[in-house]
Amino acid sequence: MPLTLRDIPRFPDYVTGQTDHQFMQAARARGPLAMDRYGFVTAFSQAHMEMFNDDRWTRQIELEGMRAAGVSSGPMFDFVQNALLFANGQTHRNRRAPLVRTFAHKVIAELRPEVAARAEAMIAPLRGAGSVDFVQAIAGPLPAQVIAAIVGAPEEDTAMFAAHVYSAVRGLSIVGPEERAASDTDMRHLDRYVAGLIADRRTAPKEDFLTDYLRRTQDGPLSETEVRAQMIGVVLAGSDTTRGALTATVSHLLQHPEQWRMLVEAPQTWAAAAASEGLRFDPVIGSLARITTEPREIEGVMIPQGTLVAGSMLTALRDPAVYAAPDRFDITRQDHPRLHPVFGGGPHRCLGEALARIELEEALGALARILPDLELDGPPARLRGYGAVRDLTSMRVRA
Ligand code: HEM
Repeated sequence: MPLTLRDIPRFPDYVTGQTDHQFMQAARARGPLAMDRYGFVTAFSQAHMEMFNDDRWTRQIELEGMRAAGVSSGPMFDFVQNALLFANGQTHRNRRAPLVRTFAHKVIAELRPEVAARAEAMIAPLRGAGSVDFVQAIAGPLPAQVIAAIVGAPEEDTAMFAAHVYSAVRGLSIVGPEERAASDTDMRHLDRYVAGLIADRRTAPKEDFLTDYLRRTQDGPLSETEVRAQMIGVVLAGSDTTRGALTATVSHLLQHPEQWRMLVEAPQTWAAAAASEGLRFDPVIGSLARITTEPREIEGVMIPQGTLVAGSMLTALRDPAVYAAPDRFDITRQDHPRLHPVFGGGPHRCLGEALARIELEEALGALARILPDLELDGPPARLRGYGAVRDLTSMRVRA
């Protein structure tokens, strides 16, 4: 007789001072499956995370997340209702298809020199500048600038654009009424702003991403609201994630000075490896959540249809079945899977992986070349939380 959901152990209580990784390891010690405090059946291995991303028996959470947060209308609700990340089946395919070519590896690879130039221009003035807020000075502005340029926002609008983006994105989590209102206001601004960019390109097409995307969508089947939502979607998906990943990677490199020196001595050799290891060691996404669409037995437990399930990225990326010495930060490791699991899997696998990697690699390379003596000037940054996009603490560095 298979076990039932009631037999699954609960997550342990959080012990003051525990890191998220320690907390998740304590949860993993309870068994291959455990129930978190939101009622998600959580699995810890990389194989189980891949299984949860298989849309033959699970589907993406649509508006259930918003409803659980008590939100049933407003700009963020409208966005979630129209964005590809929160859609399934044909609706998802319709929204994703026109973006796939726009974000294809080859197309994005051509952006590398431009991203490198932006990273250098941002980092060079910091030489000798003393103590610097890393997130404010580099990790926040770089992805926002790059993605703003991709959607065709003029250079002078990028600071305003970044401010709206980083505030709006908070509304995808469960937040209090004040943050909810601020996020909705910023989402409304973004929506109007993107509508303006789209109108401009329709009257005066350019040789750019946005014009190309509009050409691809002009004969349907997406509604105008969906067209705007996909543009906003790539902006939101591409900013917060890369900001957190870059900060966490630099934070771990500076906590392992011998590995920072390796990067300084040969940035060309180590930038890509450091990016991959930073993404693994402290993933910016804590878990991937789904709803089961048919019953399935896993680890002797019958998971019924309609169950909330989550694959923990924190433990999957430290799965001892995949990685040697998984708790060691090691930019020389050779055991990363061919497809890095931090970018998900199945039909929703990240569209921006190539772009994110270019941003991380170019920023790490420029930091190592321009600021070889970079060091922490206070506590290292931390990513916090074990679900969705994790929160980031600030970090001061001495350039
Ligand atoms: C370090 C940086 C990044 C990480 C770790 C990351 C990770 C992910 C993950 C795990 C997913 C799948 C979510 C799920 O299955 O529920 C995803 C989806 C997505 N990502 Fe990223 N991402 C990053 C950067 C970017 C960038 C730079 C862009 C855009 C240009 C982007 C655009 C997207 C989009 C549009 C989706 C939705 C795809 C779909 O639903 O079909 N991401 N990302």
